[in-house]
Amino acid sequence: MSRIAYVNGAYVRSDEAGVSINDRGYLFADAVYEVWSVFDGRLADAEGHLNRLDRSLKELQIMQPMTRAALLNVLNEVIRRNRINEGMVYLQISRGVAPRDHVFPSHTPPSLVITARPVDRDAAARKAEAGIRAISAPDIRWGRCDIKTVGLLPNVLAKQAARERGAGEVIFVDQDGYVTEGGSTNVYMVTRDGVVKTRPLNANILPGVTRLNLLPIIHNSDLSLREEAFTLDEAKAAAEVFVTAATSLVLPVVAIDDHRIGTGAPGPVALSLREAYIDQARRTAGS
Ligand code: PDD
Repeated sequence: MSRIAYVNGAYVRSDEAGVSINDRGYLFADAVYEVWSVFDGRLADAEGHLNRLDRSLKELQIMQPMTRAALLNVLNEVIRRNRINEGMVYLQISRGVAPRDHVFPSHTPPSLVITARPVDRDAAARKAEAGIRAISAPDIRWGRCDIKTVGLLPNVLAKQAARERGAGEVIFVDQDGYVTEGGSTNVYMVTRDGVVKTRPLNANILPGVTRLNLLPIIHNSDLSLREEAFTLDEAKAAAEVFVTAATSLVLPVVAIDDHRIGTGAPGPVALSLREAYIDQARRTAGS
């Protein structure tokens, strides 16, 4: 079955869809994006992602292409037309189409593209049960990583380096040796006495929506939670390390730079938080 994409007002076959060579997303990465998980045909953490999208657009002074209600209709229609039950939805909004000039064009409507694809949850569960390996890399990104822009070249290069070393994620480290986040995830460590640590939000990391909805789960559990920066060395010496994102949900990290984390197998905290997060996301999906 050919997939269906929404492109600037029309539902079109993905293999025939296209955007202008003058789209500012293409020319300048002058665009923002969002990724939702889909459970039982419904958007997970719908509001959280829409709120972050609003914020990204506002920070970059890109116009809203339509109201939130209209956008939700289109998102759900893309899910329906692609018959997605378990999957993910990708949305991208650029500053629109205009002859190449760095400064903002005037009176140009933003471009909106939405696509969806199925996800094999059984394969994802097997991946989580095995855990992933990570590498570390210096965080060479810009100073506004809190905005979810499509300008992801440092992430692309670092994740490719991870792949070439047999790892599934890169953990970015700032100039002082502290972990910022993953190439496409937020990062957490669990101390040997059961404290979960994750870096507090600032301009250096993306405010993950999975993180936003996982923190109350941790808070309401037996674990203690500290939003506190930790170094790469602390992470390597931790009982557990895990990452979160709309795509990977909660994923245990079993090694960093060939250094085994804990027992070298996914830990009980990461696995139970994965289950609790998925339960909650499935229960609240679409609302
Ligand atoms: N990435 N940090 C970065 C750099 C990310 O790219 C992502 C998500 C996250 C986690 O955010 P959330 O929990 O809202 O998905 C953190 C998406 C999934 C991607 O680029 O595919």
